[in-house]
Amino acid sequence: MKASVVAKPDNLGGTRMKAIVYSHYGPPDVLNLEEVQKPVPQDDEVLVQVHAASVNAGDCFLLRGKARLMGFGLLKPKHTILGSDIAGRVEAVGRNVTQFQPGDEVFGNTVKYGFGGFAEYVSVPETGLVLKPTNLSFEEAAAVPQAALTSLQGLRDKGHIQPGQKVLIYGASGGVGTFAVQLAKTFGADVTAVCSTRNVDRVRSLGADYVIDYTHEDFTRNGQRYDLILAVNGYHSIAAYKRALRPEGVYVMTGGSMAQVFQAMLLGPVISRTGRQKMGNSAHTPNRKDLIVMKELIEEGLVTPVIDRCYPLGETASAIRYLEEGHARGKVVITVV
Ligand SMILES: NC(=O)c1ccc[n+]([C@@H]2O[C@H](COP(=O)([O-])OP(=O)(O)OC[C@H]3O[C@@H](n4cnc5c(N)ncnc54)[C@H](OP(=O)(O)O)[C@@H]3O)[C@@H](O)[C@H]2O)c1
Repeated sequence: MKASVVAKPDNLGGTRMKAIVYSHYGPPDVLNLEEVQKPVPQDDEVLVQVHAASVNAGDCFLLRGKARLMGFGLLKPKHTILGSDIAGRVEAVGRNVTQFQPGDEVFGNTVKYGFGGFAEYVSVPETGLVLKPTNLSFEEAAAVPQAALTSLQGLRDKGHIQPGQKVLIYGASGGVGTFAVQLAKTFGADVTAVCSTRNVDRVRSLGADYVIDYTHEDFTRNGQRYDLILAVNGYHSIAAYKRALRPEGVYVMTGGSMAQVFQAMLLGPVISRTGRQKMGNSAHTPNRKDLIVMKELIEEGLVTPVIDRCYPLGETASAIRYLEEGHARGKVVITVV
């Protein structure tokens, strides 16, 4: 039987750690850097020393109490440390952990396991982790999980992307969009990316075949038709997206304004039932298999995370404020170690 390497206070250099904590909902000002109890891994868990974590829209959503009715705490937060995407080094493992050992460099998504990434340590079931891509820094690896899986699952599982298809990515310059452009190219699509003027060169450098500057041109009115549209950010009416689809085209919404989200969720299924075009939304499902797909694509050099800015752990509130402005150019990352 495998020897247990469960974390004990005496082999971890203390029982306390620094973390970004919040006890009530509100703007980023409610976040505080505090000393809290360091987690002790359960039998199936891995204790990770977090080197970097990335910020996602989900963190902003939870922070402001917008998920109260979704089981995240009605009156106060159920999980007091946010941060889902992490990369770090395994510090200790529970007795039932088979795939990792102390010293391994890992990355993963803690959404299903109570968050906790904006901290020096987090304890995660081994099913939430994968060995870090060998060619990435911890910051780059932490940028991957949620944004990349949102893109991958939107294009592949909901979009049924095929080689040679004309694919348009709307909102191509942010955390999700920069992965979507690269992934659509790895599927062999002919990719049109939509972004603003200052991001045109960057998005083209990610492999987009065509780039439309939304400040100069409305892609829904230029006469082009697409097999697949992935709407990542911003807003167009669902009727406008429908107009830009080929007769059997597919529209997948993964984010953007509330109006864009609700139209896709409420009207998309109705449109899909009444015609050949398919329209709807896609929410990412964290899973190990897709993280491994991303690790392989990254190690083959086919996808590279794009980082806009890194903030130290103590400035997590500023990182979230920046993301909430809505103009990040790639991922926003927290450097912990
Ligand atoms: N479905 C899921 O599971 C899932 C998971 C993660 C995120 N999301 C959602 O996906 C969306 C995008 O997330 P993200 O992390 O990529 O956000 P982000 O990094 O904050 O996106 C910022 C980018 O969006 C661009 N943008 C802003 N307004 C735009 C507009 N009107 N038209 C085109 N581009 C625009 C910005 O470019 P400019 O500065 O040039 O305007 C900026 O580069 C969010 O709504 C988020 O809630 C969904």
